[in-house]
Amino acid sequence: MSKVDVLLGLQWGDEGKGKAVDFLAPKYNIVARFQGGPNAGHTLEFDGKKHVLHQIPSGIFHPEILNVIGNGVVIDPIVFAREIRDLEPFGVDASKTLILSNKAQLIIPTHKLIDKALELSKGEEKIGSTLRGIGPTYQDKIGRHGLRIGDIIHKDFDVKYQKLKKQHLSLLSTLELDDDFHQQEQEFFKSLDLMRKFKIQSTEYLINESLKSGKDILAEGAQGTLLDIDFGSYPFVTSSNTTTAGACTGLGIAPNQINEVFGIFKAYCTRVGSGPFPTELFNQEGEDLRRLGNEFGATTGRPRRCGWLDIPALNYACMLNGVTQLFMMKADVLSDVTPVKICESYNSSNGIIKEFPYIWDDTFSPIFREVPSWKLNGVPAYSDLPDNLHSFIHSIEQSVGVPIHLISLGPDRNETVLKKS
Ligand code: IMP
Repeated sequence: MSKVDVLLGLQWGDEGKGKAVDFLAPKYNIVARFQGGPNAGHTLEFDGKKHVLHQIPSGIFHPEILNVIGNGVVIDPIVFAREIRDLEPFGVDASKTLILSNKAQLIIPTHKLIDKALELSKGEEKIGSTLRGIGPTYQDKIGRHGLRIGDIIHKDFDVKYQKLKKQHLSLLSTLELDDDFHQQEQEFFKSLDLMRKFKIQSTEYLINESLKSGKDILAEGAQGTLLDIDFGSYPFVTSSNTTTAGACTGLGIAPNQINEVFGIFKAYCTRVGSGPFPTELFNQEGEDLRRLGNEFGATTGRPRRCGWLDIPALNYACMLNGVTQLFMMKADVLSDVTPVKICESYNSSNGIIKEFPYIWDDTFSPIFREVPSWKLNGVPAYSDLPDNLHSFIHSIEQSVGVPIHLISLGPDRNETVLKKS
């Protein structure tokens, strides 16, 4: 039976989804992105090379796999063109294996200006947006005046573009344009020419017809569950549904077509940008995690905030997504970190709670349990992992009620341990 499996992040993004998709991709005929846009940075490492993909699905390095950018995604043509060019030296001709939904929304240069202006206007309360134009583009989508990829191949595109740009400029009338705005605009139009060479179609038909004909699909999520527009720590969230439900609306898949849901999490937590982070470390332990885990943003290079694994948050994410299998990333980073801590509940003014609170403020505090660390030597088979790592895995499985099937011990494809082959 053909199926749609979903792979998504259970924390605040940067869980290692790129590596996980790349690892799983050979089992599928299609890899499809369903939400987000160039705010994402999915890192893949193999053959001694590191690749960071922002908008292009992580199946692109497998020539036999079809990659789809679904209708739920927002696309910046400039970033798209750069990504396509960056793939060429590695012999990847994306035009053969990448299809774009005609209903994906287009990020235009003024969306990025609006993003910047809105973020600046928030002052101390800024979200810490990647400033890639994500929010304003989704705002235009919901406001029903956005431009879609299907529009770029229609003859009235220029008229529609000018209309939207004018609307944006009137919003921005009190601001000066960035010095490089005109250059950005030129690059935008040049990039559209490249984009027009790709297949642009109603990918919901392609996906559903592929399923009927027995093909298997992997839906690749971006960002993480705790950045979901509905369930994340609003307003410090991204502008899309990063949960399994987002795969249905972002690709045109009926909910009853979803099979496995792979939930990716790090053995600790990180977050970029502002917003609540219950287990955040403000001390040397946090700095050590940042250094050992090389926790700097793949898209913006910003240092990531670091903290211990948060079980109530992980439980919440598993519940929202219907996770059937867990993949634990970066377990190697905690090798030799003494002691390792896990947050299993929170203290609140109403006593101990295990639910992720509506608002996290200073009436809450995390309750940690210390666990012994482990020492890793290479990449052993599952049964040969250190005992303390086995205990760590079992205790998470027990708390969350979902099995951990994959443990990542390094960035390379080969540094991966499977519970069952
Ligand atoms: P935006 O989606 O770029 O507007 O950013 C909104 C919030 O989500 C900010 O806190 C960003 O740092 C965060 N964010 C967006 N994309 C990612 C991602 O791919 N990984 C981690 N955080 C992200």
